[in-house]
Amino acid sequence: MSAENDATPIIINGKKSSQKIRDWVKIEIIKLRESYNFIPGLAVILVGEDPASKIYVNNKEKQSLEVGMNSWKYRLPAESSEKKIIDQIHKLNSDDLVDGILVQLPLPEKSSASERLIISEINPDKDVDGLHIINAGKLVSGENGLFPATPSGCLHLLREYFSDLSGKKALVIGRSNLVGKPIANMLLNQNCTVTMAHSKTKNLINECRQADIIVAAIGIPEFIKSDWLKKESIIIDVGINRIENSNSSKSHLVGDVDYQGAIKICKAITPVPGGVGPMTIASLLLNTLKAACVRRNLEPPIFDFTS
Ligand code: GUN
Repeated sequence: MSAENDATPIIINGKKSSQKIRDWVKIEIIKLRESYNFIPGLAVILVGEDPASKIYVNNKEKQSLEVGMNSWKYRLPAESSEKKIIDQIHKLNSDDLVDGILVQLPLPEKSSASERLIISEINPDKDVDGLHIINAGKLVSGENGLFPATPSGCLHLLREYFSDLSGKKALVIGRSNLVGKPIANMLLNQNCTVTMAHSKTKNLINECRQADIIVAAIGIPEFIKSDWLKKESIIIDVGINRIENSNSSKSHLVGDVDYQGAIKICKAITPVPGGVGPMTIASLLLNTLKAACVRRNLEPPIFDFTS
């Protein structure tokens, strides 16, 4: 029997799914403005000059404005003290127009500020990154809260394309607070049987071969090889790795999975770019909308990803 898949694999379209979310958020914001006379607002703090972080933050600002949200960007020098960053957070905590606060990570290498301490100063009700320990605890406990955007985007895609994940064996590779740990808990809350793998995991290939779903969040280009995959598995590739082209000054993006090999084996896969990437900001906008409603004791509208 061939190890290759029998049918053409599903290419999970994050561009399309994220557009659907943004269109929906835009309509919900119009409804909120008309019914309750407010507009949700997102404040983003960028410390330092990292070019990739600047692009991410500009995209967050652009997409917030496109859906009709208020958007504020605060740029602080890389050498800003922890106190300076925390003072900015406290101002935003007490600003009633601000519903969501996000500090772009990672902080610059030369920064003396502690990420953990800075995040702990954000009002958990405005923590649209879902990184505050209160929101992390709610996720682990299966309670409602604000949860990190990238893993929420992964879950949206999985539920949109496969609705019921119950009983599936899910392997999460990578144990970051931003992706690995939250997606593992989200999948557990969906009744998956979850395994977490990381740099010290023994026999990763064996773990991959048993997985119905793999979420790869490692940050190493094309690390997961196609012959590690179970036939008909579902691959969610969170990696965005820039590769310089050998024959020109240009570059291109690849994921953590060997895409060209994987599409011959798997049932479905997220491409890079155009898979998980666009879902992050869409999920952040959903979180900001939710935070804006919950802060005002309004029932937050729920996006129906099956529609
Ligand atoms: N850097 C990369 N992804 C993220 C994210 O989702 N939130 C924050 N704050 N920083 C990031």
